[in-house]
Amino acid sequence: MGGVSSEYEVSLNTGKEMMKHLDRSKYEAVPVVIEERGQLVDAVKGLDFALLALHGAYGEDGTVQGTLETLGIPYSGSGVLASSLCMDKHLSKTILRSKDVLTPGWLCWESMEDYSEEAVGQLGYPVMVKPNSGGSSIGMSKVDNAEGLRVAVEKAFAEDRAILIEAFTEGQEITCAILGGELLPVIGIQSLGAEWFDYSAKYEQGGADEQVIQLPLGTHERVRTAAFACYKALKCSVYARVDMLLKKGVPYVLEVNTLPGMTETSLLPRSAAAAGYTFSGLLDAIIEGSLR
Ligand code: DAL
Ligand code: MG
Repeated sequence: MGGVSSEYEVSLNTGKEMMKHLDRSKYEAVPVVIEERGQLVDAVKGLDFALLALHGAYGEDGTVQGTLETLGIPYSGSGVLASSLCMDKHLSKTILRSKDVLTPGWLCWESMEDYSEEAVGQLGYPVMVKPNSGGSSIGMSKVDNAEGLRVAVEKAFAEDRAILIEAFTEGQEITCAILGGELLPVIGIQSLGAEWFDYSAKYEQGGADEQVIQLPLGTHERVRTAAFACYKALKCSVYARVDMLLKKGVPYVLEVNTLPGMTETSLLPRSAAAAGYTFSGLLDAIIEGSLR
């Protein structure tokens, strides 16, 4: 837990929840908090297994996974390639589109030299401006017209070397997780107070209403198909959470998270609970699936 990404705090909260719920009759658990790059190798020497509570850069993007592979230490969740692909929104959207999975239209800019109000005008407002490899909505803005574009773009570039300008899709925000080859119950998200599912809506108690939703059969089937198509195309394993927008019964994939949050307010534990998993049981399933 911890790490050097902007999701440091979120990761500590994920790690804290994991430590709270790990079944100590089965595991001897040692918390490892990473405060800076380079600490990991010493910290994990002698471990049988690394249960990753990391999010974002250097944690969820394949780098830690590669280090653990090199050290010969098994770890939880997806491997190096899936982790890298899913962390890069532009690349993952490109692959998803090539597999006919719907995802909102977007532009990817790599510096301010790419800045073009004309290109965004063609994409159509409103747009979401986000760091290409970010998480937890950090550095992200909704922009309604050209006036707000530059500030949003600079804010996103402060977090990342590349940014995404993504067409805003009006619809119901949903998320669904895959665990052990099964789709967990779909959760519908209603941000309360915030206009969209931003950092405070995600992590403040009462920031959002997140409930398992019963979708009409056809819609559920489309969601399931899209979720598994993402999981397969991006080479995920063990578990992942796919975030989508549902517009008139059609899902548009926003992104795939290979190390989804497991804080007190996070979505995966909630969805797993609806499928009958305790938090401890969810951790068992992740660990067992990763060792398989
Ligand atoms: N990036 C956060 C941790 C999530 O997807 O839950
Ligand atoms: Mg994410």
